[in-house]
Amino acid sequence: MINLKINDTVLDVKEGTTILNAAASVGIIIPTLCYHKDLSPFGGCRFCAVEVSGARLPMTACNTPVAPQMRVLTDSPTVIRYRRAILRMLLANYYDAGYKRHNEKFVIDEDNELIRFAKQYDVDVASAMAKHPRYLVDSDPNPFVWVDRNKCIQCLRCVRACAEIQGRFVWSQSYRGYKARIVAGDDSTMLASRCESCGACVVYCPTGALDNKMSVHKGRADKLVRTTCTYCGVGCQLDLNVKDGKVIRVTSNRDDDSFNGMHLCVKGRYGYEFIHHPRRHAKPRVREYLLKNEPRPAERGKFVDVDWDTALDIAAKKLKQLRDGGAQIGTLASGRLLNEESYLVSKFARQALGTNNVDIASNLYSRNEADGLLDSLGLPAMSNSFDDVAADAQAFFVIGSNLTEQHPVFGARIRQNVLRRRVKMVVASPDFFNIEEYAALSLRHKAGTEAALVNGLMNVILEKGWEDKDALKKYPHGFKEAKAMIDGYAPTRVSELTGVPADQLYAAAEILASNRPAAVLWGMGVSDPEATRALANLQLLLGNLDVAGGGVNPLRAQNNSQGASDMGCAPGFLPGYQPVSDANARGRFEAAWGSPIRAEAGMNALRIIQAAGEGRVRALYIVGEDILNTSPEAAEFRADLEVCEFVVLQEMAASETTRYADVILPDVSFAEKTGTFTSAERRLQMVRQAIEPLGEARPDWQILAELGGRLASGWDYATPAQIMDEIAALTPIYAGVSHDRLQRGERLQWPVESKAHNGAPILPIGSFGEVSWAVG
Ligand code: SF4
Ligand code: SF4
Ligand code: FES
Repeated sequence: MINLKINDTVLDVKEGTTILNAAASVGIIIPTLCYHKDLSPFGGCRFCAVEVSGARLPMTACNTPVAPQMRVLTDSPTVIRYRRAILRMLLANYYDAGYKRHNEKFVIDEDNELIRFAKQYDVDVASAMAKHPRYLVDSDPNPFVWVDRNKCIQCLRCVRACAEIQGRFVWSQSYRGYKARIVAGDDSTMLASRCESCGACVVYCPTGALDNKMSVHKGRADKLVRTTCTYCGVGCQLDLNVKDGKVIRVTSNRDDDSFNGMHLCVKGRYGYEFIHHPRRHAKPRVREYLLKNEPRPAERGKFVDVDWDTALDIAAKKLKQLRDGGAQIGTLASGRLLNEESYLVSKFARQALGTNNVDIASNLYSRNEADGLLDSLGLPAMSNSFDDVAADAQAFFVIGSNLTEQHPVFGARIRQNVLRRRVKMVVASPDFFNIEEYAALSLRHKAGTEAALVNGLMNVILEKGWEDKDALKKYPHGFKEAKAMIDGYAPTRVSELTGVPADQLYAAAEILASNRPAAVLWGMGVSDPEATRALANLQLLLGNLDVAGGGVNPLRAQNNSQGASDMGCAPGFLPGYQPVSDANARGRFEAAWGSPIRAEAGMNALRIIQAAGEGRVRALYIVGEDILNTSPEAAEFRADLEVCEFVVLQEMAASETTRYADVILPDVSFAEKTGTFTSAERRLQMVRQAIEPLGEARPDWQILAELGGRLASGWDYATPAQIMDEIAALTPIYAGVSHDRLQRGERLQWPVESKAHNGAPILPIGSFGEVSWAVG
């Protein structure tokens, strides 16, 4: 430990601690400009200068380590004079054109760190600042990032953020002296320099030289509401900036325990304009024939705007008539709904409509990435967490995942770990994926041959004796049969099947076997459960389960696909993966819901739609998904929907599917409701209402509760928190979850067994049943 004195405080800190951090540890805050705790120290601006006894000049606190018996003054008259001089020097090259305020005359931006410090140190900005601009304001065509070099102070936070967080190396500093400036690439444009528009440079810029183009003129928010991103399974935390009831900007904040901290991707940071989209439904709508009690005309006739009661009564009457007449009804949920809403979809199908025909609509065009894991390892989700996978893995095996586009913030973290820790990464994909640029080895296999490829890797591992013998002893069940199957995948055969040369199979197997733990990550490109099971076998074989940095990690595509599965939006499972065929599980739900539940599994999404086309499913209830716009099978589905007798659609804005609906019940965006999402790493996070519902739209849970109440009893829900309490009472893996705990900031990754249990960042294998080696 090093003993030193800062101002009047004597303290001991670890060797290597900077003066800045030593001071902070005793509550002394030294001002900084080029320093940011997320970035490597640069020591460029000298604003953090402090007086150190014996030193000729003030020293920079952000990158000077403490020394024994050091005496430091952080606010002496010399230091204050020095900082003022630095501020004047920075301001002399700084010009603010005053565009930040909307409909107001020239106002110097107070969110700007440089300006705030100038005011604090009594430096008059107007007289110290440059009198003329040197550069074009808004000088880069990037649609999201506003570049105004007149406000740049050369702190290089943007350069470091781009390199150290996003891993794209777009920005650098070029030219000398007075001409020195930040440049994108070889002084071209950001996009030409491989920018991914994540906005990391914007968020770390202290002066607004880099800003959000979509909102630079929109002024200051009235409030910031912390919520969860609605795009992918990473579940980033972000702040919706609200002004006059409108979301004007998205920002990020590092003051919480989120995975992403300040980092977001282009979707989360800039993809918010849909919230106020002009095509949103303002009122419920029904087809005219329903109002007139006439038979359905060809193409269903015209829509008429109606009040909620009329729409709900019409939907309820027709669904009841079909249900009571014994007709099949299909229900499709969305992986974008809240958990509370997905639970109500599952309940609505089973209790109010009397069917297990319920599934997630996205299963129409991509399979559930975790399919196959439940019947081999007994896991219905990622076994590990984003943090431990990124930080502790010694190798990554990424297969069928365009990681940096599908799960960008996690993908960027993986990229950083390859760069910083030199983790070896094997990427297998039929096409080039961006993440491959960082791979130690790329395997280009034929689409659909993932299972053969993984079996081939295991064949090599067994041939070389690289398997983990202890793991084989621990999990012997089914190994003999699995080995017999793997023996059939000799490298030469696998090479023929997959197109991957045998020497690459050996190289990949060696990387994975000699760098343990290795984490396996996959996405929508792993196209059959056999491949998922093979990946589970691979991790068993290498002893990579139940360890930080290992695991089987299916990356669910939509932001709450995981939650929708957890909540029983699946034909064979009640909430919490309790099989409908299990009489005890059914009994608990029947007692709580007050009606019988069918014991046989229902139809999956594809069968539901096909059966609708064949006239076997007579009504469809679709919540929050435009199945025609998102599916490659749209032409077939269009024909199926066309013949379906009755289609009810809960949706926010007119879509392709709208054309085939009889009743439209307008729902809201994530900004207009409160509840929870479960990220791909099984983590529950709050979604918080930031604005009032637009028009007459309602949250999906309210719509379902209104309609459920017209068809059955037990639908009196006042709040989503109450729905979560019901989920917790019936779903062992969510037993300890409550909105109160999440609002308090508790980190909960299921299984959360009780109110006293804190969940499991690494899901113990075997928690859902016996672990067995899969054969095919
Ligand atoms: S653009 Fe902003 S972050 Fe980048 S060097 Fe200039 S002031 Fe610093
Ligand atoms: S990585 Fe996913 S959750 Fe995070 S901001 Fe991007 S889309 Fe949203
Ligand atoms: S903050 Fe320390 S040198 Fe810039």
